[in-house]
Amino acid sequence: MNLSVVNSRALVGVKAVPVAVEIHLAGGLPALSIVGMPETAVRESKDRVRSAILNSGFEFPSRRITVNLAPADLPKSGGRFDLPIAVGLLAASGQIDPLQLEGKEFVGELALSGEVRPVDGTLPTAMAARQADCSLVVPAQNALEASLVEGCEVYGCDSLLHLCNHLAFPEELARIRSKPAIVSEIENDCADLADVRGQHQARRALEVAASGGHNLLLVGPPGTGKSMLASRLPGILPPMTLQESLETASVASISRGGLDITEWRRRPYRAPHHTSSGVALVGGGSQPKPGEISLAHNGVLFLDELPEFPRSVLDVMREPVENGEITISRAGHQADFPARIQLVAAMNPCPCGYYGDQREPCRCGPEMITRYQSRVSGPLLDRVDIQISVQRIEYALLRTDAKKGESSKQVRERVIEAYQRQLQRTGKSNAQLSSEEIERHCVLEEEQHQCLESALNKFNLSARAIHRTLKVARTIADMECSERIAAHHLREALSYRATLREQYRP
Ligand SMILES: Nc1ncnc2c1ncn2[C@@H]1O[C@H](COP(=O)(O)OP(=O)(O)OP(=O)(O)O)[C@@H](O)[C@H]1O
Ligand SMILES: [Mg+2]
Ligand SMILES: [Zn+2]
Repeated sequence: MNLSVVNSRALVGVKAVPVAVEIHLAGGLPALSIVGMPETAVRESKDRVRSAILNSGFEFPSRRITVNLAPADLPKSGGRFDLPIAVGLLAASGQIDPLQLEGKEFVGELALSGEVRPVDGTLPTAMAARQADCSLVVPAQNALEASLVEGCEVYGCDSLLHLCNHLAFPEELARIRSKPAIVSEIENDCADLADVRGQHQARRALEVAASGGHNLLLVGPPGTGKSMLASRLPGILPPMTLQESLETASVASISRGGLDITEWRRRPYRAPHHTSSGVALVGGGSQPKPGEISLAHNGVLFLDELPEFPRSVLDVMREPVENGEITISRAGHQADFPARIQLVAAMNPCPCGYYGDQREPCRCGPEMITRYQSRVSGPLLDRVDIQISVQRIEYALLRTDAKKGESSKQVRERVIEAYQRQLQRTGKSNAQLSSEEIERHCVLEEEQHQCLESALNKFNLSARAIHRTLKVARTIADMECSERIAAHHLREALSYRATLREQYRP
């Protein structure tokens, strides 16, 4: 036997695609070459594999060795092929039984000592392996992550020798099988909505946004509670489905930071600072990695002080906010990352902050105000379904002995109820309804059509804005358990489009 084939997987964006690691031993001068578009880290694999095999007490075949990573047109990076190359070499040279490699997939980086080091993206790898009906051998440190995938047979190994000792007999192998991961229900540890006094309108808008997954913009003078309100959003969001959790965790799994298991099933809430780099925000790099916008997949991306973000970043947001995906192109590479986000943003209406305030006069000229507001482009604003003004509140409400607001727990119960109605109807939140679904589920009466038409004329609403308004109206109706969209639901939804256009226009 001079040939062996080991199953492994490469990462393309957030997907783990099959790679066959073929190993051929031939006569001739001892040498090892790796073909099939390996990148630097993979080419260096031969040195690691050689040392690891020798240091594990095996023999390194002194033959002409060819390692082919197929398909050849797929770029391959990282040390994840070390382990499959090593076991393949041992099988081809008759040191382990090739039959033991069947029905299994392998990923893992080797240290010179033969120890197995963790790799990126074990979660998507495990999802793909289960789909292919294969069991999966991973570095011990990644075993917990891989076993989040229900029904996937996962084996964790510490070292090459450890693995080979266990591969020999089924009962031995069973000993390194990892148990299905049990992660306890996550605790909600964010600040409570009860701390926010007054601001009934804004609280209402926050609840509507949470219920239907709609984008939200809070505008107002400094110190009125915009950041405070937004930071309470995670505490009222509905739970994620298992499928959503897997998608979100997959993005984290391939990101620079890796997946934090304690965050499993928690709806992401990312609040990057406006000074973060473009790559950190939208993703990229020579080995494209997801940015904040993808790490927020199925959750919230909160951009505080919206106009301070670089225009280039805000413009890139337009694509994912519309279709839930972001494409990163770098020389020779293109990667798609999921980015189905709920965009939440806060801003002051002008550079001094007080334009439109009831007390403090604004010191900015109309031109300054226009320029400041136009840092947020029209197309981006058009995608923000709920736009709300947050004004200062009276002292009576702020008194330390004044009545507290409703708690996050109470609000979340209602949000979950409204969200369930949406799931039952279409299997998704209202924010994600397609045009065809809007037609089917947002039926209006003649009078309401006229109401929409006059709003369109008055505020120059785009077709997109009309569709988005209908989705918000659908959510407001769901919050009242109403199958029909009534006039007052539609009026409220329209009011969220009108606030900014009227109140803060210089
Ligand atoms: N409605 C409110 N109820 C209770 N406390 C409030 C309220 N609004 C503001 N505060 C207090 O003021 C602080 C500042 O509020 P916050 O940071 O949310 O203001 P902001 O609207 O984001 O201002 P800026 O425009 O300067 O960012 C809060 O941490 C809180 O202590
Ligand atoms: Mg703020
Ligand atoms: Zn001003």
